[in-house]
Amino acid sequence: MRTHIVYAHPHSGSLNAALRDEAVQTLEGLGHTVSVSDLYAMDWKAVADYDDFGPTENEHFMAAAGEAWDKGEIAEDIKAEQAKLLEADLVLLQFPLWWYSVPAIMKGWFDRVFTNGFGYRPSSDWPRFGDGVLKGKRAMVIVTTGAAESHLSDRGVNGDINDLLFPIQHGVLFYTGLEVLPPVVVTGAGWQADFADVAKQLRERLETLAETEPIAYRKQSEDYDERKRLLPGREPEGTTGFALHIA
Ligand SMILES: Cc1cc2nc3c(=O)[nH]c(=O)nc-3n(C[C@H](O)[C@H](O)[C@H](O)COP(=O)(O)O)c2cc1C
Repeated sequence: MRTHIVYAHPHSGSLNAALRDEAVQTLEGLGHTVSVSDLYAMDWKAVADYDDFGPTENEHFMAAAGEAWDKGEIAEDIKAEQAKLLEADLVLLQFPLWWYSVPAIMKGWFDRVFTNGFGYRPSSDWPRFGDGVLKGKRAMVIVTTGAAESHLSDRGVNGDINDLLFPIQHGVLFYTGLEVLPPVVVTGAGWQADFADVAKQLRERLETLAETEPIAYRKQSEDYDERKRLLPGREPEGTTGFALHIA
């Protein structure tokens, strides 16, 4: 099993760094071949711009990306990340929750690596949401939050963590074909979380990856009409919002 970890934290002495080391050690102990893209350590370029492509006159950014892809004129650091994903069986994203999302450096990794031609094509028949370039592989988010568990629960002031992670888990990972396992969420990081406890929680999740059922996101090819709307009657009555897209 090949596992690739995409990791974003600026400090090598952080809780996140300790959890990453715990993950690598546990996975290697389980026989995985592990690689890590440590985005800060790599000085990853976080901003998608025209420097990512060869020379182009195309002023439509997404089209310029597709054109560069077709000509093979994509920046080498992007190609290297794409190759790591294609080699992996399991992709882990690890980050602290910053303003309800990933740190900007990881958002830039999404923007640049899942470029037009690799992650998507602006065409209605491009396979997405359950199909796509990473189909057949699995993914899981490992996230630390300053908020406590109750703050992130159904009635918590921060909103449900599953909703906060929907853009990442559904909009990026499932979109590109990955099966998404339920996240490892370390709440109260920095004030409540006890390292021994959270390391144990992480190890247990990594040791049971094979038996863990993915989140039952609905596949675009099975549950949606030609206008990409959920077919009627698929959901329990009264379901609204993101929950509509989970069977
Ligand atoms: C820029 C920034 C934004 C943050 N936004 C959130 C947030 O939206 N929700 C939350 O629960 N915690 C938030 N936090 C707290 C971090 O999630 C928390 O400090 C981190 O998970 C602790 O892990 P670490 O010690 O490895 O940095 C934020 C912290 C920073 C620095």
